[in-house]
Amino acid sequence: MENETLTVIDNRTQKTYTIPLYKGTVRAMDLRQIKTGPDDFGVMTYDPAFMNTASCQSAITFIDGDKGILRYRGYPIEQLAEKCTFLEVAYLIMFGELPTETQLKDWVDNIKYHTMIHETTKKFLEGFRYNAHPMGMFVSTVAALSTVYAESRNVHDPANRMLQIHRLIGKVPTIAAYTYRHSLGYPYVYPDNDLSYTENFMNMLWKMVEPKYQAHPAMARALDILFILHADHEQNCSANVMRSVGSSLADPYVCVSSAAAALSGPLHGGANEEVLKMLDEIGSKDKVPAYIESVKAGHGKLMGFGHRIYKNYDPRARILKWAADRVFDVTGRNPKLDIALELERIALEDEYFIKRKLYPNVDFYSGIIYQAMRFKPEMFTVLFAIPRTVGWLAQWQELIMDAEQKIARPRQIFTGHEVRNFVPIEQRAAIAAKA
Ligand code: CMC
Repeated sequence: MENETLTVIDNRTQKTYTIPLYKGTVRAMDLRQIKTGPDDFGVMTYDPAFMNTASCQSAITFIDGDKGILRYRGYPIEQLAEKCTFLEVAYLIMFGELPTETQLKDWVDNIKYHTMIHETTKKFLEGFRYNAHPMGMFVSTVAALSTVYAESRNVHDPANRMLQIHRLIGKVPTIAAYTYRHSLGYPYVYPDNDLSYTENFMNMLWKMVEPKYQAHPAMARALDILFILHADHEQNCSANVMRSVGSSLADPYVCVSSAAAALSGPLHGGANEEVLKMLDEIGSKDKVPAYIESVKAGHGKLMGFGHRIYKNYDPRARILKWAADRVFDVTGRNPKLDIALELERIALEDEYFIKRKLYPNVDFYSGIIYQAMRFKPEMFTVLFAIPRTVGWLAQWQELIMDAEQKIARPRQIFTGHEVRNFVPIEQRAAIAAKA
């Protein structure tokens, strides 16, 4: 449209520029023409932490943070969580449409075909110290798969990419389960492909001497729902890492490993583990008000609260609350839930949290459910990484197929020294003393 432009007046030169708007955005490169003279580099944008910068066009996930809406490929998360299996949603995220019965069968067969990991990779896992953090083991082992599948570097071949996608989605539960067994000192359990994706994961986690592992159907369904809720979340910190590393055309194993490393931080997926630590630290319901006061006084953050995009309730947290009740019907109620509910109740009435639009996010309730399912808190972020692998890979496919994308390489505002002459080592102390 003709009027979809901005008129910019450069007050330094009095020149006027017409800048086109593209889907409500300004292309940063269109600002480069704004110069004071031929030697001027031109105007850049400065946006630490990407507060207001779109780095790509994507058709995968839609979030309206003010309204608390999350959709994968147009479908509301609530409907997908209620009606789909995780692998069905994985297909949707990857290919853009819900699968037909035949498509779903082929997709599931392909993923199941790749659940085993190479015995040398198993030995690689055995080499970790007995108390290694599962997320560190996960990140390293996924990266190590790059050494097993050298052909994965051929990222421009669509069939080769799809093979690696099947492999990664098939193998991440196996690696995750092995990190868990390793931390307990238990022997690893091989995948059982008679079982569904989540049932097989539970089999690899918890099978002991019984000949065939029987997953509790309600628990398997709850885990499936948790996986659906965590499958993608548009351009978050780890998706951005996936795209950034992927833009150098690195293979998908090191890309997923890098994305998982980003996920492990306490401000991102690592928050679910931190929530449990926080609830332990609070200890009981009556200590909640004092804890909230200490957060408001600047002593730490309320983990599992706040989100860069959601400024209304995180829709995933609402579904998780519902799923928690289904899990507690089987496991008994996790007493930490009472502390969490009290924390939420008080925080949502408090001016500090209302003003900053801080609501519980996905990590607030997931840990309580995982703990009721018998997971140790150190495993929580690995449980996030399994389904998010699907989202990372879909983002990676989109990146590779996007003709507009190039190697990701931001600019900087240089704040360091102008050129200066080298100082011999014997003169440096005297110069430093004078400064
Ligand atoms: N507790 C207390 N105060 C908070 C919190 C919190 N959890 N989160 C944000 N604030 C305050 C923050 O101090 C700032 O206050 P002020 O304006 O007075 O300086 C204001 O709210 C705005 O926060 P921000 O840090 O500018 O927001 P952000 O968009 O950069 O950060 C966040 C988003 C998720 C990193 C942050 O809310 C946070 O650290 N939350 C706790 C960690 C967490 O739960 N992370 C999981 C996020 S959801 C799942 C995922 O991504 O994996």
